[in-house]
Amino acid sequence: MPYYRAVGEIPPKRHIQFRRPDGGLYAEELMGEEGFTSDSSLLYHRHLPTAIVKSEGVDDPAADADPRPNLPLAPRHFRTQDLPAAGDAVTGRQPLAQNEDVRIGYAAAVEDSPLYRNSEGAEVVYVQSGRTRFESTYGALDLGPGDYVVVPTGTIHRFVVVEGPVKALTVESRGHIRPPRRYLSQYGQFLEHAPYSERDLRGPAEPLLADGTDVPVLVRHRGGMSRITYARHPFDVVGWDGYLYPYAFNINDFEPIVKRTHAPPPVHQTFEGPNFVVCSFCPRPLDFDPRSVPVPYNHHNVDSDEFMFYVGGDYSARRGSGIEVGSISLHPSGVTHGPQPGAVEASLGKDFTDEMAVMIDTFRPLDIAAGARRCEDPEYAWTWSRDAR
Ligand SMILES: [Fe+2]
Repeated sequence: MPYYRAVGEIPPKRHIQFRRPDGGLYAEELMGEEGFTSDSSLLYHRHLPTAIVKSEGVDDPAADADPRPNLPLAPRHFRTQDLPAAGDAVTGRQPLAQNEDVRIGYAAAVEDSPLYRNSEGAEVVYVQSGRTRFESTYGALDLGPGDYVVVPTGTIHRFVVVEGPVKALTVESRGHIRPPRRYLSQYGQFLEHAPYSERDLRGPAEPLLADGTDVPVLVRHRGGMSRITYARHPFDVVGWDGYLYPYAFNINDFEPIVKRTHAPPPVHQTFEGPNFVVCSFCPRPLDFDPRSVPVPYNHHNVDSDEFMFYVGGDYSARRGSGIEVGSISLHPSGVTHGPQPGAVEASLGKDFTDEMAVMIDTFRPLDIAAGARRCEDPEYAWTWSRDAR
């Protein structure tokens, strides 16, 4: 996480006695990344965070036992707008695509999720529509349309439906998710050329306390799911401080970077994780050279699969392809992609785009999972060749 934050009550020094009103000691816990050598936070619990009473193996309802390689190889179009609203934002995820580094799903949640901890890696969840309250050991975040929430590895949390269905794209990483390194100073401050800054990030503002005994938490670990029962409710943190915590960022706070001629997708990069990046395509003035071609040139990223979720506006490069808000295109390595026929000509002279999209570029090929197969438009791959022969 980018910067230091302190919430609730904490003692004046680390690792000293810190007492509850009844005289007992709060239980101090360090949540830290990379073996005490990277970002961490210290949390102060009312009860022992180690006190568990049961662990059971459970099925992962959001897993696809049969993800399939993108074979025969083709560009794909998936219509999440055709997927049903059901379940919650954790166990109700409909798997879309995955590889060794990342698992991408879609939720249209109508129920509150169980408590959940992903111990395999961080997650970023993008809320397309609806409202949800993200609750965690660090506190709560109110999320609405356009919000990303970045959930550090191992954070116990849940999604409470405020206004459903909560439609969301879920990205489960096998490592940590951070702002792009090139936008940070050597000590972690956002630099002036970054498209967003600390002021755009929302962290938990106050402790979130809950009572309860024998509280189940779903824990994802090593490709499996366990249900671990905690003796006391894990939302018992009276205060914490550090650099590691969940935070929200709204896509509308992304400041687009514009060039005189077409700027490539890295200018839209918002987050990065091991072997993937997340980009935000936002409304912006288009290229301002009078000779410019505002839509992208044909491109073949030989090391990337490009997974693009269209979340708002009119995506002019895809006109005539059937792509609408809610659609996802998957442009894999091995096939060149570019604007649909006529899109280049139609774009000439345009000076603004209202397109909005969330893109995940993975550096290893994505397999296609059951939720995506369920809502695929099989004609998409041929839409460039309509008038080509
Ligand atoms: Fe592309």
